[in-house]
Order: sequence, then C-alpha cells, then structure tokens
Amino acid sequence: MKQGKLLYAGKAKSVFESEIPGRLIMEYRNDTSAFDGKKLAQLDDKGMVNNKFNAFIMAQLQSAGVPTHFDRLLSETESLVRALDMLPVECVVRNRAAGSLVRKLGIAEGTELQPPVFEFFYKSDALGDPMINDSHIVTFGWATAEQIAQMKALTLQVNDILIELFHAGGLILVDYKLEFGTSDGVLMLGDEFSPDGCRLWDAKTLEKMDKDRFRQDLGNVIEAYREVGHRIGVKFD
Ligand code: TMP
Ligand code: ASP
Repeated sequence: MKQGKLLYAGKAKSVFESEIPGRLIMEYRNDTSAFDGKKLAQLDDKGMVNNKFNAFIMAQLQSAGVPTHFDRLLSETESLVRALDMLPVECVVRNRAAGSLVRKLGIAEGTELQPPVFEFFYKSDALGDPMINDSHIVTFGWATAEQIAQMKALTLQVNDILIELFHAGGLILVDYKLEFGTSDGVLMLGDEFSPDGCRLWDAKTLEKMDKDRFRQDLGNVIEAYREVGHRIGVKFD
C-alpha cells in the first residue's frame, strides 16, 4: 500500500496516512534510541524484526481479548493500524526490579515483585518521561479516571498473557511499557510491543535479551531480538 502524508515521526517509527479511512501505516525504522534520544544508532534489520515481532504479539493479545489498534502486516517494515487518539501516558508493569526502579528506589536488580508494580510515566522527551500518578493524569486532563482504570486492567491482563508466552520460550518478562489511545471513544492498545520497550531475560542464565543490550553496549542486539522471537514462534523470513 502506498504511504500517504507523513503524520508523525518518532524515534523508531513513522506514521503515515493510508488509502483506507481510519487506518494508518506504521513504519518501523532501523533507528534505535535510548535515554530519551541521547543515545542513537542504526541497527540493521531492527525495523523488520520489530515489525514482525509486534505483529505476532498484537495478534496473540487480540485473540486473548485485548483490544488493539493492529490490523495487518503490509510489508517487511510496515503495518496497518487503526488511527487512535493517543493518550500521552506510558503504562509500565514490573515483575522483577530493573532499570529506573533499581536506580530510584535502591531495590536489587532481579528482585521478584509480587504483586507486580504498576507505574505511569508522562510521555515527554523534553521532560525525560517523568513518573506521574493518577492524580496528575486527571488534573491535567491526560486521561479520565475511567480510562486510568481501563489502562491498568488491560496492562495487567497483558501481563498474564505475556508472562506465560515468554515463559514457554524460556524467558522472564521483567518489565514492559504500553501506550493506549481511543477510537470513537473506545480505549485500545496502540504503539508497539517489541524488545525495544520491554525487558526479557533468559530464564536460566538471566542474560539480557532486549534493548538493555543497546543501552549497556552488550553487543548482538538484533541477534538477541531474533532469538527471543524464534523462541516464542515469530517467523522473520
Ligand atoms: P525504566 O526501567 O527505564 O523505567 O523502564 C521500564 C520499562 O519500560 C523498560 O522495559 C523500558 C520501558 N520503557 C520504554 O520503552 N520507554 C519509556 O519511555 C519508558 C519510561 C519505559
Ligand atoms: N525509548 C526511549 C528513548 O529512546 C527510552 C529508552 O528506551 O531508554 O529514549
């Protein structure tokens, strides 16, 4: 399908108008960013790998009853998605301590978190995606109380589904970030789910197999993304 007008270019994906009303083309680029855009690189095949990885996960979530914006794969690096009005918040769930939780609260990396921790972040590179709470979201009109409740419930439903999926592939789902939007007032999962926005560790060795390989200069970033995909049944070629 031909790309229409460019509507939005993020750090790793671009969104274009499509030929179908209410549907957009999401293009996954090889651009890789960390630390709110302070660390940038091009990684060969990342666009293709994340596009197919995301398509697989979205299909799993959809069939488990989670409403998502995903429609279908269009090409190696493009997917067709429903146009959403995105809410400017990020929903993070943590099953193990890592990343900013370790830095801010001094919890040892790898500590099991039961029940899982849920956090909201405000989507703003300029402000460094600060952590926020329900009260900020309602007062500043970023989402309604009802939408907050729905985002929490859906993010935790996704946790149940994906913990199992990755466990079957010998992987621990450490944490992940989701973004939601609305279409005709209906809340659904938008953006993407790929190793760019989650942490996955090998269940036996605890080896990092996600974007921390890029953040921490561990090497073999896309090789690890492919390996994770293979273990859960994603077909890349
Ligand atoms: P954090 O430990 O840096 O707070 O991130 C928690 C998880 O959420 C981790 O898997 C990375 C993901 N995440 C993003 O992908 N983008 C973001 O802007 C944020 C805040 C988190
Ligand atoms: N994706 C965000 C960025 O590029 C956060 C991160 O992954 O570190 O800055």
